[in-house]
Amino acid sequence: MDYKFLADKAIEAKGISHPPYSNFHVGAALLTEENKIYLGGNIETSSYSLTICAERTAVFKAFSEGERKFKAVAIASDSPDFCPPCGSCRQVLMDLCGDIDVVMINHKEELKTLKLSQLLPFAFGDKDLK
Ligand code: THU
Repeated sequence: MDYKFLADKAIEAKGISHPPYSNFHVGAALLTEENKIYLGGNIETSSYSLTICAERTAVFKAFSEGERKFKAVAIASDSPDFCPPCGSCRQVLMDLCGDIDVVMINHKEELKTLKLSQLLPFAFGDKDLK
């Protein structure tokens, strides 16, 4: 699938990020099964560890609006490299969105798409709590 449209939304979402301490702007765009897109930016607070990443902002926004089925998430930053989701976001995405496509974007606006299970193999999940 061509995720250029979703990548453009992630790049746009950098504009709603709030990183006054790191100044590292991240934008995420989460695509639902019904093709609705939820945007998220990273939000930092003075108590640094309470920061929330762009991906989790987008997932929690979507979830709290009742969304439950997802296809892909795109992630953009100003780094020259493809911006991968952090480990915490990988776990949250796997638990709440399943094995979706993860679209990473670099500063040339090139895309690299992997399945979430490639980024988080042998994941802990529901099945392990039984
Ligand atoms: N950040 C994200 O928003 N997503 C990630 O997956 C990696 C890191 C944010 C958190 C923090 O506000 C800033 O980037 C620097 O770590």
